[in-house]
Amino acid sequence: MPHVTALTVSAPAFEHHREPIGIGESAPRLSWTVETGIPGWRQRAYEIELSDGTVTGPVESEQPVLVPWPGPELTSRERRGARVRVHGHDGSVSDWSPWSWAETGLLEPADWQAGAAGPPLELLGVPDGPALLLRRDFTVRGPIDRARLYVTAHGTYEAELNGRVVGDDVLSPGWTSYGHRLRYRTHDVTELLHEGANAIGATLADGWYRGRVGFLGGKTNIYGERTALIAQLEITYADGSTDLVVTDDGWRCAPGPVTTASLYEGEHHDARLLPAGWSEPGFDDASWLPADVLRHDPATLVAPSGPPVRRTETLSPVAVLTGPQGETILDFGQNIAGRLRIRVQGPAGHTVTLHHAEVLEDGALALRPLRSAVAEDRYTLRGDGTPEEWEPRFTTHGFRYAQIDGWPGELDPSDVQAVVCHTDMRRIGDFACSDPLLTRLHDNVVWSMRGNFVDLPTDCPQRDERLGWTGDIQVFAPTAAFLFDCTGPLASWLADLAAEQAELGSVPHYVPWVPLAFDTIPTAAWGDAAVLVPWTLYQRSGDLDLLRRQYTSMKAWVDQIASLTGDDHLWDEGFQFGDWLDPAAPPEDPGKARTDHALVATAYHAWTTTILAQTAELLGHDADARHYAELAQAVREAFRGEFVTPSGRLACDTQTAYALALTIDLLDGPAQRERAGRRLVELVAGDEHRIGTGFVGTPLVCDALASAGAYDTVYELLQQRNCPSWLYPVTMGATTIWERWDSLLPDGSVNPGEMTSFNHYALGAVADFLHRTVAGLAPAAPGYRRLRIAPRPGGDLTHASARLDTPYGPASVSWTLEDGTLTVTATVPPGADAEVDLPGSAVREVGAGTHTFTAAL
Ligand code: BGC
Repeated sequence: MPHVTALTVSAPAFEHHREPIGIGESAPRLSWTVETGIPGWRQRAYEIELSDGTVTGPVESEQPVLVPWPGPELTSRERRGARVRVHGHDGSVSDWSPWSWAETGLLEPADWQAGAAGPPLELLGVPDGPALLLRRDFTVRGPIDRARLYVTAHGTYEAELNGRVVGDDVLSPGWTSYGHRLRYRTHDVTELLHEGANAIGATLADGWYRGRVGFLGGKTNIYGERTALIAQLEITYADGSTDLVVTDDGWRCAPGPVTTASLYEGEHHDARLLPAGWSEPGFDDASWLPADVLRHDPATLVAPSGPPVRRTETLSPVAVLTGPQGETILDFGQNIAGRLRIRVQGPAGHTVTLHHAEVLEDGALALRPLRSAVAEDRYTLRGDGTPEEWEPRFTTHGFRYAQIDGWPGELDPSDVQAVVCHTDMRRIGDFACSDPLLTRLHDNVVWSMRGNFVDLPTDCPQRDERLGWTGDIQVFAPTAAFLFDCTGPLASWLADLAAEQAELGSVPHYVPWVPLAFDTIPTAAWGDAAVLVPWTLYQRSGDLDLLRRQYTSMKAWVDQIASLTGDDHLWDEGFQFGDWLDPAAPPEDPGKARTDHALVATAYHAWTTTILAQTAELLGHDADARHYAELAQAVREAFRGEFVTPSGRLACDTQTAYALALTIDLLDGPAQRERAGRRLVELVAGDEHRIGTGFVGTPLVCDALASAGAYDTVYELLQQRNCPSWLYPVTMGATTIWERWDSLLPDGSVNPGEMTSFNHYALGAVADFLHRTVAGLAPAAPGYRRLRIAPRPGGDLTHASARLDTPYGPASVSWTLEDGTLTVTATVPPGADAEVDLPGSAVREVGAGTHTFTAAL
């Protein structure tokens, strides 16, 4: 048997989980990657063994990604190991992979014995008031085999057992459409318990449930007026018997040190108010009030499909600045989402104030962009003569700078750290090139993704908004899916989208939906997220089940627009955001784009209808596939009839209009496409190679130019430094992607517009083009089963590279250009293959392995 040791198989992954404890799938699909030096290696068959004795024997299949669960379905609390062995077409057989283990959570509503224990009304302040403490004692009867805490809340919580914080997640349970889906987490707490007296507790804040959320004053009490903890501690003893400790009326409540906790306002903590030992056994809670048991619906409780928010990095200040009034301002050198951690010593009752901002204006914190979010944390010292460490727990801010007021004595900058907090996704992709500004632009995109995946995909992390705007993630999803493994988190968000859509009859502007200023009227490019985000995730992860789960939602969206547009198929009525933030739109009217809203909307209708037809075909809904393919054709014809001249000019002479027509394939034949491509080049040149697109055109304009072969123009745009351009913010010192092309004006002042965030990922959607075309690493089949290696060097770049942990394993492309010779080195993971398309060369096919190609340019 050849090559037994030349093949190594990774321990299988379960679904999209990073830590498969408390999973919600009873038949989790398995994925693995193979490492081998055998050129062109392909899997012919796999074998799976489960710890319950299930063995599949060799299953003829080339698929190592999301393979069906081979054993009996898991029930609640079941733990199962899995390992894999693979056979190659060349006769090679691997050794068994290491085992990996998954454990289910509580899969049935009936598994939940826990009630919702809420602080009594006497303790409950106004929304965004104090965080409250809940606790109870319990006894562990004997030696423990294992213990699990299943926990969630109406509000945000931090749980403790015997004086120790449970888990390292923050802002749990995060924000979902709570009325439909409330995620719980499962913690292995075996090590936190001991025989005899124990105590469990939690600090409970209002969070998204009851605190203020949204712009224009926002709303409070969105999901209810009462916060509550839902906790179920299950202890399994060595003798097999079990005990349950659940939230019920045996819990007691009191105020704690957190006197104010608000996502927007910040957190105030008075360390003198901490009841010492409150979550330890034997604490005297006689003066505490009994919790009320409130109604909750266990049917809404779901296991997470991705990782929680965690502290992912700590930054030290890079400079200590003095503001115009003598303020002490720390610069952390990077705009982030998170909060500060301080170490301070001083007199009891003394208060330190921490104020956050993304940018400075005239040397002081620029607070106007935060609108009504106060973003101020306060710590009042216990003052017992020892250093005190503090980090707020129930708030987060978008900031690079922090003003520190009231610091007792001399501030040592190392006593203040910035703690980066976001969904703890696995980083999978990267990009670099010889232009440091372009590489920094890419880094800024990564930071904006980190700043805006704070549990859900948001528009911004700093002002009174931070909502799951559908349009923003719709345009950014291809980039997001390359940078981090976000399939799990976005699958959860899409489940919310579908639930909200079913309830509201349309895809809301943001998910979760909070009724604020306007109704849930369908809008193009935003509502189209219902179709395009699942499709993108399928392309990148190969997860067909995700499309299956979203199909009803995808179809409902397209049907809704089809009935709205009627027989003429033109979407030319009703409110639209359109090409939002077109650089020509005035600061106070970001929707006043040059591109006709009807053109944008009709183009999107054609696009999502086409994708829906393809989805239907993949899922075997043949009649649907035919119906939507015909509808897409009709919409295309309607588009052409209304917006395209016979020669290929568009009724709207804008970069965005041509970008849409060219990338969505709305034109009729090569002659029209050639004319449209030429016109786009003329338009970009007419704008002195500055960007002329908003949210809609920005992700498409480079691809549109590339489809016309206009790479010179692509690079003129990409490497442009004058405003507006992708690099202008970089030249102004940006460390994240800005909401506006000119959030900071060339004179260094903040754009006067109401909407001026410095951390919005949408305009960073160009990173997907950097990956696919500048570096040249693109998917050619779902899940990167086939790669397209097609770099298109240009501008003054002398090298570029991208790497990606695809579902099949690590892939990379790296090129250098020297004396007119392009040298490309590409790695194709085992089990995948690639088409290699280099400028001036015929397309080649290659299999797994590392390959080098050269081409004369
Ligand atoms: C958000 C955007 C969002 C937009 C709707 C803004 O307030 O920050 O990113 O998509 O509204 O057009």
